[in-house]
Amino acid sequence: MKKVKDHYFHKAKKDGFAARAVYKLEEIDQKHHLLKRGYRVLDLGCAPGSWLQFIAKKIGNEGKAVGIDLSPITVKLPSNVNVIQGDIFDWKPEGELAEPYDLIVSDMAPKTTGIVSVDAQRSFNLCEQALSMASIHLKPGGTLLVKAFQGGPFQELRQLFQQQYAQVKICKPKSSRKESVELFLLGLGKKELTSS
Ligand SMILES: C[S@@+](CC[C@H](N)C(=O)[O-])C[C@H]1O[C@@H](n2cnc3c(N)ncnc32)[C@H](O)[C@@H]1O
Repeated sequence: MKKVKDHYFHKAKKDGFAARAVYKLEEIDQKHHLLKRGYRVLDLGCAPGSWLQFIAKKIGNEGKAVGIDLSPITVKLPSNVNVIQGDIFDWKPEGELAEPYDLIVSDMAPKTTGIVSVDAQRSFNLCEQALSMASIHLKPGGTLLVKAFQGGPFQELRQLFQQQYAQVKICKPKSSRKESVELFLLGLGKKELTSS
């Protein structure tokens, strides 16, 4: 399906952002105050880089953002951002990259087929991996924001969030295309799970 170059596409160009996706994060941040100065933020599926551009500004020089994507990023990013080209399923951070994060965000999207159930399952696999990474790399009390597709295993994903976060919200930003099945799941207050 050919995507229409809408108001947000042109606005992103004018504002110097790498993608219109930035306005989804901006809107969710305005409502839920996710990003704070000095935060350590992990951005899963960060290319072409508009979320990292926004995050870098909000966390300031004393913060640190790390982005991972299969694709390279060509946009220029400030020195408080570290980009890794690779697959999140293979990521094994060491040293400073392995220190816990205050916020993990994922705007990851699978290669879509147009078959709703297949695409929903592929999206679920990415979300499940983001949850699993957050269980290791997110601080207790931290926040996880993940893009998910409606349908299929969405309710299962929501339940997993509810088990692991004190509060769970569903966000559909205005800049998310109306015809798109995407939603964002927001987990606030990562619980400290005790193994029994
Ligand atoms: C919608 S784009 C992200 C846009 C980004 N938030 C921005 O503002 O520029 C989705 C990204 O997820 C990435 N992605 C999908 N599967 C991935 C995986 N297994 N590991 C890393 N990145 C992945 C894709 O390569 C793609 O660049």
